Amino acid sequence: MTQSTQSTQAEAIRSCGRELREIVDGADGDPTRALPEFVAVVQRLLDQKDLLDVGMPRHGVHVSKSRVLFYEPELIIFSGSHHVPWTVEAHNHGAWVATALYAGTITQQSYRSVHQDDGGVARLEVVEDMELQPGDVCVCPPPPHDIHALTSSTGSDMLVIAGGTFSDLRRYYHVDSGTYEERLGA
Ligand SMILES: [Fe+2]
Repeated sequence: MTQSTQSTQAEAIRSCGRELREIVDGADGDPTRALPEFVAVVQRLLDQKDLLDVGMPRHGVHVSKSRVLFYEPELIIFSGSHHVPWTVEAHNHGAWVATALYAGTITQQSYRSVHQDDGGVARLEVVEDMELQPGDVCVCPPPPHDIHALTSSTGSDMLVIAGGTFSDLRRYYHVDSGTYEERLGA
């Protein structure tokens, strides 16, 4: 990548990050309240080539390779790749989260929290069951509805946009039995 391509790409990432934060700020901290505007900016970012090679490496919980492209305390953009079939059961994050597919396919179920207590009981309702193709974006609102399950039969490259740092302690849900367990994430 030439130096001028690199600086164009860096500027595109910066401007998308700042625009997304303005959109979310204007929507009371919930990107699902300004979904068309939010998705349009994310899709502009997805149009950029070679996004997987930029940014600072991070440890991803559900992916094998991950890099931070943009960081502000209230909005983080990172890439995540897994080049084998993978699945992650329903889990929360501690912040709103958007999944944007760069390559491959992902099936995502988004859930609404109907009831959760602190003792391991959780009743969830599916609000969206979506097969993401490259260019598609799916957004989970802030807690307690920051819950999704993901499956990829192909492997995938994605961008994840998060409304802050994820919780260390995450809930993993057994949707059918209405329970959850907590596990340490990162
Ligand atoms: Fe997730």
